[in-house]
Amino acid sequence: MPSQTVCVVGLGYIGLPTAVVMAQAGLRVVGVDVNPEAVRAVNSAVPHIVEPDLEAALREAVASGRLSAQAEPTEADAFFLCVPTPFRASGDIPSPDLSYVFAAGRAIAPFLRDGAVVVLESTSPVGTTERLAAALAEAAPGVRFHAAYCPERVLPGRILHELVHNDRIVGGLTPEAAEAAASIYRAFVRGGIHLTDARTAEMAKLVENSYRDVNIAFANELSMICEREGIDVWELIALANRHPRVNILQPGCGVGGHCIAVDPWFLVDAHPDLARLIHSARRVNDNKPEWVVAQVLRRVAQLRHEGREPLVACLGLAFKPDIDDFRESPALRIYRTLAAEGLRVVAVEPFATGTAQPDARLVDLQTAIQTADVLVGLVAHTPFREADLPREKLLDFCGIARKP
Ligand SMILES: NC(=O)c1ccc[n+]([C@@H]2O[C@H](COP(=O)([O-])OP(=O)(O)OC[C@H]3O[C@@H](n4cnc5c(N)ncnc54)[C@H](O)[C@@H]3O)[C@@H](O)[C@H]2O)c1
Repeated sequence: MPSQTVCVVGLGYIGLPTAVVMAQAGLRVVGVDVNPEAVRAVNSAVPHIVEPDLEAALREAVASGRLSAQAEPTEADAFFLCVPTPFRASGDIPSPDLSYVFAAGRAIAPFLRDGAVVVLESTSPVGTTERLAAALAEAAPGVRFHAAYCPERVLPGRILHELVHNDRIVGGLTPEAAEAAASIYRAFVRGGIHLTDARTAEMAKLVENSYRDVNIAFANELSMICEREGIDVWELIALANRHPRVNILQPGCGVGGHCIAVDPWFLVDAHPDLARLIHSARRVNDNKPEWVVAQVLRRVAQLRHEGREPLVACLGLAFKPDIDDFRESPALRIYRTLAAEGLRVVAVEPFATGTAQPDARLVDLQTAIQTADVLVGLVAHTPFREADLPREKLLDFCGIARKP
C-alpha cells in the first residue's frame, strides 16, 4: 500500500494535515489547491494554517520527498477531496454550496484511470457522493473507478492526533468501493474503520453535529428560562446531572464555528417538513446572542439610571474556549452589536495572537476588572475561569464564575 500515489485536493485545515499524515505513513502524496499560496506554503514546508505540530510534521513530510503540492491534479491511485462546503445564506433556510466539490470533480476527471479510488471528505448532504460519481462518469466515460465518502471528525488544535486515532466511517457506493477506500485509510489510521454505504456515512456526519447542536440548544433554552425564573442555571444543570441518566450540556452565548452552526442546515434544507427539532435548535442557538445583548443592555440601562455611563468589557471573542479562531463567533457578534448600540465597550481576548487579531478594542484582564462597570462573560477561556472575577460586575453567559 505505501507505494501508492494519493492526490489530496484542497489543502486547508483538513486536506493539509491529511496529506501530511499520509506522507508520514509512507504514501506518495500530491497536494492540489487552487490557491497558489497554499501550494507555495506546502512546497516551502511552512504551513499557511495554524495547527499545533503541523509545521514540524510538514517539514518532515516534504523532506522525505513523499509530499509535494501543485495547482493541477495528476494521475493517482486515489483522490481525496477536502474542499469547502459552505452554505448559501439565502431565504429562511440556508442551502449547501456544493460548487467546490463539483469543481474539484471536474479537475480530477481527466486523471481518473481504471481502479482509481475517489473519496469525498467534505461535509456534504446525503446523495452528494452519488451525484459526484455520476458527474465523474460523464466526464470520464468508460473509466471504472470506486467512489466513497468518509467524513472528518477532527477537532482543531488536535487535528494531527485525531486524524490518526479517531474512528473512521467509510461509506462506499459499492462494498468494493468502501473496501478500496478503507485499504488506504488503514495505511495511516489507528482508530477503528467502519464500513457502510455512502449515504449512511454522509448522514452520520450531519447527525453528529446536529446532535451536538440540539443538545446545546436545550441548555441555551434552559438558561433563558432560568434567568426569567431567577434560578442559577449552572447550579440547576449540575444538580439535574446527578440523575444517573441525565447529562445536560453547558449553555453559552451562542454556537459558532464552521461545523456545528452549519451542518444541521444541510438536513433542514433537505427535509424542512421533518427536521423540525433540528431547525428549531438552530434558531435557538442563532438567536442566543440577541438575548445576551438584551441582558447587557438591561444592566447598562440600570447603571445609566444611577447616573453612570458604564464601561462594558466582553470577556472572550473566540467561537469557543481556549482557541484563537474568530470565524462565525457569536461572542464577536455580541461585541460588535454592543459597540453598534453606542456603548463604551472593550474586550479581553487572551488568545488573540499576532496572526489572529479580532477587530476589537482589546484590553488585558486586570485592566478590565479594574476599570469596567460590567464584565460580560462570553467565552469560558481558562484564564477567565482561573481569575477572581468580581461577581457584582459579572454577567456570566458561559459559566466562568463556576468553580469546579
Ligand atoms: N476544519 C474543520 O475542523 C473541519 C472538521 C470536519 C469537517 N470539515 C469539512 O471539511 C471540508 C474542508 O474544510 P476545511 O476546513 O479544510 O476548509 P478550508 O477552507 O480550510 O480548505 C479548503 C481548501 O480547498 C481549496 N479549494 C477550493 N476549491 C478547490 C478546488 N476546486 N480544487 C482544489 N482546491 C480547492 C481552498 O483553496 C482551500 O485551501 C469542509 O466540507 C468542512 O465542512 C472541516
